[in-house]
Amino acid sequence: MLRISACRLLGRTGASRLSLLEDFSLRHYSSDPLGVRDDTRDARAYFTTPIFYVNAAPHIGHLYSALLADALCRHHRLRVPSAAATRFSTGTDEHGLKIQQAAAAAGLAPSELCDRVSAQFQQLFREADISSTDFIRTTEARHRMAVQHFWGVLKARGLLYKGLYEGWYCASDECFLPEAKVTRQTGPSGDLCPVSLESGHPVSWTKEENYIFRLSQFREPLQRWLRGDPQAITPEPFHHAVLQWLEEELPDLSVSRRSSHLHWGIPVPGDDSQTIYVWLDALVNYLTVIGYPNPEFKSWWPTTSHIIGKDILKFHAIYWPALLLGAGMSPPHRIYVHSHWTVCGQKMSKSLGNVVDPRTCLDRYTVDGFRYFLLRQGVPNWDCDYYGEKVVKLLDSELAFSLGGLLNRCTANRINPSGTYPAFCTTCFPSEPGLLGPTGRAQAEDYALVSAVATLPKQVADHYDNFQIYKALEAVSSCVRQTNGFVQRHAPWKLNWESPVDAPWLGTVLHVALECLRVFGTLLQPVTPSLADKLLSRLGVSATERGLGELHFLPRFYGHPCPFEGRRLGPETGVLFPRLDQSRAWLVKAHKT
Ligand code: MSP
Repeated sequence: MLRISACRLLGRTGASRLSLLEDFSLRHYSSDPLGVRDDTRDARAYFTTPIFYVNAAPHIGHLYSALLADALCRHHRLRVPSAAATRFSTGTDEHGLKIQQAAAAAGLAPSELCDRVSAQFQQLFREADISSTDFIRTTEARHRMAVQHFWGVLKARGLLYKGLYEGWYCASDECFLPEAKVTRQTGPSGDLCPVSLESGHPVSWTKEENYIFRLSQFREPLQRWLRGDPQAITPEPFHHAVLQWLEEELPDLSVSRRSSHLHWGIPVPGDDSQTIYVWLDALVNYLTVIGYPNPEFKSWWPTTSHIIGKDILKFHAIYWPALLLGAGMSPPHRIYVHSHWTVCGQKMSKSLGNVVDPRTCLDRYTVDGFRYFLLRQGVPNWDCDYYGEKVVKLLDSELAFSLGGLLNRCTANRINPSGTYPAFCTTCFPSEPGLLGPTGRAQAEDYALVSAVATLPKQVADHYDNFQIYKALEAVSSCVRQTNGFVQRHAPWKLNWESPVDAPWLGTVLHVALECLRVFGTLLQPVTPSLADKLLSRLGVSATERGLGELHFLPRFYGHPCPFEGRRLGPETGVLFPRLDQSRAWLVKAHKT
């Protein structure tokens, strides 16, 4: 593992610069200098998004869930390049009372509504470059078979019984609620109506005979699981919240509804008078995708990472693991939880008329631009607010100006007339400041830059592991700024290729900046795949040189050959990212929210 102490220099003054430069120590150059290859980890990984309700068109919150999963999955692929090692599923949740009622309200057959809205999700995900390997619809025959099999296993293990369920049901959230979670709100006609305390959605009183799952038996096993695996639910506050919930009694869970009331769903095997509860139906999608009940699913299941919003934590962190344990399986490997997007400070809702259409945003800000915005600004632990000016400001500053400007500065014909990756001069920039001779030109800040970029891939990988993708992007962005500072400091435009004194240093400045750009391009692939492709192609980096295993930053500095040195740059294909405030000022005005 490479470790450089130059970053300690940053806070010190110029007076003691030389002696401080001598502090700089370079340990060794390993075959995995970035420390991101993790051979002990199973190469396989299975990422899932929640499956989306088809009662309404997709919004930016849905896209955000899918983007987080996409970025995690793409980052995993960079670590483990074998495509066969990764699966990534998404899909639509098409059964249940909510959909049955939405279809009735729209005057459509439920299947028609499902086809229509499921197609919208599929199209959105195609346009947004979501690299899923599976799209599941719960109305598919393969899923019905998996759910009924799963039900049969729970039944055979004595975990289902018939009983009278009486209590509140919220169709919008598709969940049962205890009295303590219900409040009264004045409805449109002035009457007091019962609503869910958490979501504010209306609830109705239900009394019927259902099948009931012995959830209460699983309180202790769930506590053992979570206490034994502190990273099971990430970020930590959500892990903590679930353990808090488990401090209280866990009542058994009703897992079917009368078919006369809920016909749009999967019938209970052997009892057509009952329809399987939509959450049990929906959660099993994660197994259907990997082939359950065929034994092949067993090799994928232990590698599962669920990406979910905070509103569906209870279903994924309590009901689902309990159902899995009941069926003789292990709980999911990881549950990554994110918070929500609000719009101009308000919750997004159809009734408020403030739902942001993600396809319009992709169109306005470009696919990569909008992906970058959501992932750079979205913080899993807290809700984030969306408004149009914020997008323009961020993208102009970080993608158009900072990153695009840097690429332009290092590749423009007037600075780099040969159109190549210039040679690195080891006497101008020796691997240790103590070796700086009369031709040495590197300064303390330059060593700090090399140190920062050398450790960036590991830092980024750690942030991905902790589901803090915005921090990974923040770290990249900070290094881009530092590289711009490096170029600015040495002003290559003032150096002369014809001068034997300037030329080696000019080449070195460009070489270092291009190497930094190569690292940034590689690390941005999970978030801005097209922009990263454009950047890497411009640098002449081939498709087989874009993984994390191949990312040996600045090998010449460490005394190793550099495969890029002297190589022709790729063709010029225009600006990396267009400035939005100039080219689209009129659109921004029209899109104040
Ligand atoms: N169908 C269930 C999930 C079943 S998974 C077995 C469901 N669907 S949903 O369409 O309502 O939500 C899907 C995802 O979108 C959830 O992760 C939810 O948190 C997320 N979001 C919904 N609104 C959101 C925001 N305003 N912001 C961010 N994500 C949000 O729940």
